[in-house]
Amino acid sequence: MSINLKSLSVLAAGVCVAAFALQANAQEPTRLRQAAEGLFLIGNAAPTRAFSDLIASDILAQDFDRLTCENEMKWDATEPQEGQFRFQQGDTLVEFAQKYNMKVHGHTFLWHSQTPNWVFQGPDGQRASRELVLKRLENHIRNLMTHWKGKIQSWDVCNECFEDNGSPRGFSPWRQAIGEDYMEQAFRIADKVAKELGEEKVLLVYNDFNMYKPGKVQAVVNMVKDFKSKGVRIDAIGMQAHWQSNDDPDIATIEAAFKAYAGTGCKIIISEMDINTRNGFRNSGRGLERDDSVQGNADASADALAKRYKDVFDLFVKYHNDIYAVTLWGIGDSWSWLRGGQPLIFDGNLDPKPCYYSVLESLKKGQKELKK
Ligand code: G3I
Repeated sequence: MSINLKSLSVLAAGVCVAAFALQANAQEPTRLRQAAEGLFLIGNAAPTRAFSDLIASDILAQDFDRLTCENEMKWDATEPQEGQFRFQQGDTLVEFAQKYNMKVHGHTFLWHSQTPNWVFQGPDGQRASRELVLKRLENHIRNLMTHWKGKIQSWDVCNECFEDNGSPRGFSPWRQAIGEDYMEQAFRIADKVAKELGEEKVLLVYNDFNMYKPGKVQAVVNMVKDFKSKGVRIDAIGMQAHWQSNDDPDIATIEAAFKAYAGTGCKIIISEMDINTRNGFRNSGRGLERDDSVQGNADASADALAKRYKDVFDLFVKYHNDIYAVTLWGIGDSWSWLRGGQPLIFDGNLDPKPCYYSVLESLKKGQKELKK
């Protein structure tokens, strides 16, 4: 085999360019994933179609190191009929995550929404008994945890179980079927199954929206304390962070919630972040709801949204010791569930918006502080 000089010099130049790029990257991260290293995991939520879209998958692999299925690991997707499990869509995300060395978050076991009616129906067509519903919950959790054993690092065990004022969710079919201890039972089951599988390191998470509202903060803190006093494992608290661009909630309110949650010994996860920019509408966690009092939101392209993202990321960086991960709920604006809210850091064409760069700057600054 002969190698001519030209090809050698091209090779050498290539190595130099690559080495330079690596060196430059080592000093100055240009993507979020690299900039967040050492601070917290940085995640995104993706539907299955993202993995056959070249631009979307490129963004996911380069900017993020944690993935959540937007819908594909929910009960209606994984067990639409009793005992008939479907894992294919979730597998697509898990395989992508493994290929690019990303962590995976499982969303979600127990939720009042996107759970088929059969879960709550008895054989006679009447309401299923507590025992039957608990048995179905355990079977569901065991099947999912077994199928994705070793591949999922955290699971939302219970999702959206409190009202904003801290009272238990009024219309939860889970609460109706099982009783007041339904969340405790779900966490006990998840921990038991994790132990059986040797998956004790998998984080068990409580996840909810409006997690900055004082009534909800108190209720969640009380729940964690109660669990811990009874030896029920709970590792992390997921704050969905469907927020507004007009300083709502304000930084002091978010910070007060961080302090309260960190005080429980749980990790904090910012689990579903997006920032609504649409005036006259509130991002409630259930969707954009008409609210005429909401004014002063930023135009989607404006620097105001970039500043809002920077302000909240500066706070995340400040609390990086308590925060396990920050996950954005969607790739670009046209992928978001908040149609018209233009809430994400990439626009409808998947081009980075000014807020992408403000998040990058915030992370880079945080990383520099770490290295001092
Ligand atoms: O799969 C069907 C499809 O067959 C049908 O043709 C299509 C027609 O509309 O609907 C498809 O289902 C939609 C599903 O997303 C998948 O795209 C549902 O209608 C739609 O309601 C569902 O919305 C999801 C929503 O959860 C459901 O509650 C959003 O994508 C998802 O972003 C959103 O995520 C939730 C979190 O799980 C929990 N926290 C709040 C967050 C925002 O609501």
